[in-house]
Amino acid sequence: MAKALSIVVPAYKEKENIQPLVERINNSLSKTDYEIVIVDDNSGDGSEELVAALAKKYPVRIIVRKNKRGLSSAVVDGIASSTSENVIVMDADLQHPPEVLPDIVKALENHDFVMGSRYIKGGSPGQWKLSRKIISKGATLLALFIAHGVKDPMSGFFGFRRAVVDTSSLSPTGWKIGLEILVRSKFKDVTEVPYTFVPRARGESKLSSRIMGEYLKQLMELYSFKYQILNFMVVGGIGTVINLGLYWLLLFIPALKEVQWNFLGKDHTNYVLPFIISSLVATVSNYLMNRVSTFKGWKEQKGGFTRYISMALVTLALDNFLLFLLVRYGNLPYMLAAVFAILINFILRYLIARNWVWNKKAPLKA
Ligand code: GDD
Ligand code: MN
Repeated sequence: MAKALSIVVPAYKEKENIQPLVERINNSLSKTDYEIVIVDDNSGDGSEELVAALAKKYPVRIIVRKNKRGLSSAVVDGIASSTSENVIVMDADLQHPPEVLPDIVKALENHDFVMGSRYIKGGSPGQWKLSRKIISKGATLLALFIAHGVKDPMSGFFGFRRAVVDTSSLSPTGWKIGLEILVRSKFKDVTEVPYTFVPRARGESKLSSRIMGEYLKQLMELYSFKYQILNFMVVGGIGTVINLGLYWLLLFIPALKEVQWNFLGKDHTNYVLPFIISSLVATVSNYLMNRVSTFKGWKEQKGGFTRYISMALVTLALDNFLLFLLVRYGNLPYMLAAVFAILINFILRYLIARNWVWNKKAPLKA
């Protein structure tokens, strides 16, 4: 039978902390139907045997992963291995006090995501070295525009309603799995519950500079996910710079200048061919940038490249036609008409790109 609550605990070499953790959870959740799922990455320190012994007395089990390492992917695997209605994630090292669990359980009655928070009234980051404080604050600030107003998006102590979270949409590479879940799921009601981050008594922290680098990468992906249209816009901006820069360079090539165009009885010299070349190069580089950033993780349709190029050509023609209509029949001044034409074109391109060139998110791979 599925439990009401699963407590997912990532653990790496935390043997000394497991027994007090399980006992304290049990004391504070005496009224709840819960299970503890410890996800251990083959620590080989006797954690497995210890949990087997504890399981005789407490609702606790352990998943030992032999071929995977990593805090976030451990959490994702733990969530996926259980079927309870609610999930709470917490660290194994007792820095997240189990006595706060009832507050989170209570908050989950009315909210679908609850962040354990050190930065709201009643909470505290505890005693930290100044350097660690600055890093944590800086990291928090960087997440400002994706964090749903949550004051402590760096916290690894949080709970949520399982039905709202699709584990296959989560990228388990980043270190901040709470933020990942918060950004990639459609929660209706997010709240915070205060706690005091307790200094580690036993074992040691696994935080490293590699992990901070991973956090920055995770941030970029989450921003791109949440503000996809802005990403598309930035790509378009970079493409315009490439287009103009290349055009300027090509104008120096004498052979290109000598190509003559006869159009409506007039000779047009030097600038059209360079512009065609620079526009094509910019379009191809836009396609590549959108592929690796804006639509990262999305399925590309068959013939995606051809689709993208034809989309660019058709919308270019349409853009000019629109400009003509706005000036001729809308009586708009040229400049204003161009602003509208560019804006409408931009939205049109974005919609075509996300529905016809790429399509829906493919499940993320570890
Ligand atoms: N399975 C598994 N695999 N667990 C891991 C791994 C791993 O590769 N790396 C770390 N853990 C477990 C640890 O055993 C611990 O239970 C928890 O993840 C947090 O790791 P710590 O090494 O204690 O990290 P920390 O104290 O620096 O960071 C914590 O504090 C942050 C708040 O500042 C983490 O909880 C963060 O999630 C939290 O946001
Ligand atoms: Mn810790």
